[in-house]
Amino acid sequence: MHARPQAKVNLTLEVLGRRPDGYHELRSIFLRIGLCDRLTLTPGAGPRDQLVVTGLPGTPVDGNLVLRALDALRAHAGVDFPPLDVTLEKHIPAAAGLGGGSSDCASALRLAQTAWGVRVARRDELPLAESLGSDVPFFYFNMAAASVSGRGENLSWLPAIHGEIGVLLVHPPARLSTPSVYARYDGLDAPPLLRHGVPAKTAEASEENDLESMFWDEITSNDLLTWAQSTDEPNDLWPAAVALEPSLGGLRSDLEKKTRRRWLMTGSGPTLFSLYPSPQEAVEAGRRLVSAESEALGGAIINAVDLTGPEPLWRYP
Ligand code: C5P
Repeated sequence: MHARPQAKVNLTLEVLGRRPDGYHELRSIFLRIGLCDRLTLTPGAGPRDQLVVTGLPGTPVDGNLVLRALDALRAHAGVDFPPLDVTLEKHIPAAAGLGGGSSDCASALRLAQTAWGVRVARRDELPLAESLGSDVPFFYFNMAAASVSGRGENLSWLPAIHGEIGVLLVHPPARLSTPSVYARYDGLDAPPLLRHGVPAKTAEASEENDLESMFWDEITSNDLLTWAQSTDEPNDLWPAAVALEPSLGGLRSDLEKKTRRRWLMTGSGPTLFSLYPSPQEAVEAGRRLVSAESEALGGAIINAVDLTGPEPLWRYP
């Protein structure tokens, strides 16, 4: 059994405050993109689930969310289902702000239900997916775009974008762990502690609200590109990510200079991305960047994708 778990980018990410449970109250717009891993489940040959990870390095096997999804499903059903052999071919860089681990986990949760002939009741699906990680429900429910709030678990489906979009992604070799970026954010900005879970900023107009209403207004790829070129910094975690990884600042300005386009950071970074009017234009921009042999690009992986995949249109190296 195969699945092609997709990645996402955060078009916006607003931190509204800290919560007593240690998480942060967020508001974010997620866009699913055509950068995909490959997940394969087969009946297990041994006494336990086995996971083999191939492709990009950096994905842990122990404690991998894919194995946790299988155990969570057993615990939820109260049945000790037979072991599975899992192969995970990684194309989505890990710890990169692209939700790859969460997407693999969501696909495993779906595939394992089919493999074991069990179906999680509708009302239990969201809590089960959410218990595995903040971004898991977005992938589990297979949304093209969503407005996300809470710690990431309150999802509202958003309509798909009309027209083509290309996404050029630059993944610098730096690794940023999500908890450390949030911790640095707290250190830089001391956001309010939300005792009653009511963010002070909800009523205010925000980038998120603007973009969200554009989605409901039959957003076209042109609208989104115009928004991306003109928006103020839409990711509140950017200052924290640069504080932890100063080279990101140089990389971003170098990319903006060379491509004459706006570059944004997804999630807690460090992946940077830019939107193009077509996948082919993203490919051409990627080729130009590589041929300019920028030092700031040193060691980066570059992918040009559309919104569906499963294969990137172009990748480097
Ligand atoms: O839920 P997930 O495992 O993806 O989150 C990883 C870590 O990121 C959390 O343990 C927390 O430190 C931080 N985080 C946060 N607020 C969120 C989501 C994540 O502080 N809304």
